Amino acid sequence: MARMRAKITVAGVGFVGATVALRIAEKSLGNVVLHDIAPGMPQGKALDIMESACLEGFDSQVTGTNDPADYRDSDIVVITSGVARKPGMSRDDLLKTNASVVGEVAANVRKYAPKAIVIVVSNPLDAMTGLVAEKTGFPKKRVMGMGGVLDSARFRCFLAMELGILHQDVQAMVLGGHGDDMVPLVRYSTVSGIAVEELISKERLDAIVERTRNGGAEIVGLLKTGSAYYAPSSAVTQMVQSIVCDEKRILPCAAWCTGQYGIRDVFVGVPCKLGREGVEQIIELELAPDDLKKLQASARHVRESMEKLAG
Ligand code: LAC
Repeated sequence: MARMRAKITVAGVGFVGATVALRIAEKSLGNVVLHDIAPGMPQGKALDIMESACLEGFDSQVTGTNDPADYRDSDIVVITSGVARKPGMSRDDLLKTNASVVGEVAANVRKYAPKAIVIVVSNPLDAMTGLVAEKTGFPKKRVMGMGGVLDSARFRCFLAMELGILHQDVQAMVLGGHGDDMVPLVRYSTVSGIAVEELISKERLDAIVERTRNGGAEIVGLLKTGSAYYAPSSAVTQMVQSIVCDEKRILPCAAWCTGQYGIRDVFVGVPCKLGREGVEQIIELELAPDDLKKLQASARHVRESMEKLAG
């Protein structure tokens, strides 16, 4: 039987990892272990978060460690390790650098947490997810990448800002790789059930789609020293919650496709049912022919990255 309190390990305590730990703790979704190779860093961030527990009123335990043996018995491992891009870089420019770091973390997950569900956050997201699946050898439903929830949140944000309405009333979905060729689905975007195409002109919608595609780069351009972490950590937390609480939410995640959308044997962003087993189902929507082509092109791009890693 599942333990009452989930154990969630976060590998990498940069801004994304630390903020994921904070959000998980503040929602009391489980106990969090922060792991990083930098001595003192995970311990310091964990202690800082714990010192806020009495003020925020959460009962999660957050601890920090430099020892990967502490991954033991994790229900979920969130991998945020690696470097973020600098202005002018694409996520793909991080491929080789992050592959060695992420590969090492994956080997530790395999060794110490063989039953865990893994959520990959490191970029380039879809290729890193493929790498983690390879290195862990885990059943594919227990490995997924966080990209679509973030991209969809950005899309929803820009749609809500355009209309000056409550963000939660906007539903939207972005499929494809978490990269320049992601596919925001205008046709499936609604405001309280109303198609956005009825509320926003085509010209403005095109601009919003473009801004969504560049959402990560827009933040990198502003921060200059790193990439986004508030929205990415919220996106991870929503996925963790759907798994830990077995909510079975339908969220776009990088998942292993086995023929859905005509895509096979690669991780790419598709709508998934997330529950305690991990990716319990991939939902197949009928896409507009143009969107389907774009999704398939995005999957080809991920495959090319995987080939570069192998070569
Ligand atoms: C972004 C990075 C984290 O989209 O990929 O902000």
